[in-house]
Amino acid sequence: MKLGRRQEAQLEFDVPSSLWLPKGVATPMRRGGGARGSKGLRVAGKPGGSQLSVTESPDTNLLNNSVIFEGDALTVLRRLPSQSVQCIVTSPPYWGLRDYHIPCQIGLEPTLPEFLASLRGIFAEARRVLRDDGVFWLNIGDGYTSGNRGWRAPDKKNGARAMSVRPDTPAGLKSKDLLGIPWRLAFTLQDDGWYLRADIIWNKPNAMPESVKDRPTRSHEYLFMFTKSDQYLYDRSAIMDPNGRNKRSVWDINTMAYAGAHFATFPPKLVEPCIKASTRPGDVVLDPFFGSGTAGLVASELGRRYVGIELNPEYIALAKDRLGLGCGPIIQALTGIASS
Ligand SMILES: C[S@@+](CC[C@H](N)C(=O)[O-])C[C@H]1O[C@@H](n2cnc3c(N)ncnc32)[C@H](O)[C@@H]1O
Repeated sequence: MKLGRRQEAQLEFDVPSSLWLPKGVATPMRRGGGARGSKGLRVAGKPGGSQLSVTESPDTNLLNNSVIFEGDALTVLRRLPSQSVQCIVTSPPYWGLRDYHIPCQIGLEPTLPEFLASLRGIFAEARRVLRDDGVFWLNIGDGYTSGNRGWRAPDKKNGARAMSVRPDTPAGLKSKDLLGIPWRLAFTLQDDGWYLRADIIWNKPNAMPESVKDRPTRSHEYLFMFTKSDQYLYDRSAIMDPNGRNKRSVWDINTMAYAGAHFATFPPKLVEPCIKASTRPGDVVLDPFFGSGTAGLVASELGRRYVGIELNPEYIALAKDRLGLGCGPIIQALTGIASS
């Protein structure tokens, strides 16, 4: 079948990618019904609409304002300019915990090495996008081996927790073993050139009880601080402890659910010190697993810009709502979504 120019452009994407710009943000337009930005940004000529097609890397001007991309993190990151964000704060999905039935979702890789490889690929691309003096804050959850139970029963409150398939126990581990995912990933990223500067324990005073009786209840997660080089922006005075001491590496912060989000959302208090210490007002904060948009919310409140990437349109809707972007222009890519 012969493809039109528009259909050819669609083939450039692995999955749909779209952009959401906050209210009042100008889209790169040129004259005429359809327009092309300086680096392949095209605005489909829809009267009264603002549909933007991304055919190549968006140009740097696009990141002059906060923006949410709908699409796969790796696909979108590949189209972002190098050295364009000052800080990354993110929390990828857990491995084998949820199935949202969306192609390209992270977390359903059949083996642990494949899960780590997916994240490694995404963070390598994020590293290119991060400025040389930037900081990358990574919150990553752990879990236990399934004991080769191939399913998880539905959870009354959260249907997404029912799994028809669960990963097998990774080679070398036993039933009941803690997977140790945070440290496995941290060492992998260190091997890739990241500087591992701190392991912060996020202690959750209100952690959910567990039914286990043969080990302590897990009530913490890790937040790793990585940098791209040995010199980087870190304003320690912006996050001093109240008694004037340098910030400690154990942070007590209650978890906070956000209505409608079927995944663990960041408590804003976890994101706040990261952004305060490693950005200045006006800088850009990236979250490639944007979810309900907590990183964007905190960035905005602190007078920073944000770039969010999220695969699931339902969560984009949540984030838009949360960030007050309800009436913002809808900008979509040429990936079968946009039509003129
Ligand atoms: C743990 S949640 C992030 C929650 C977020 N920190 C918040 O405060 O709401 C992980 C998110 O990654 C998204 N996700 C999964 N695979 C993705 C992919 N390939 N590209 C972009 N986002 C993805 C999921 O849809 C989910 O919203």
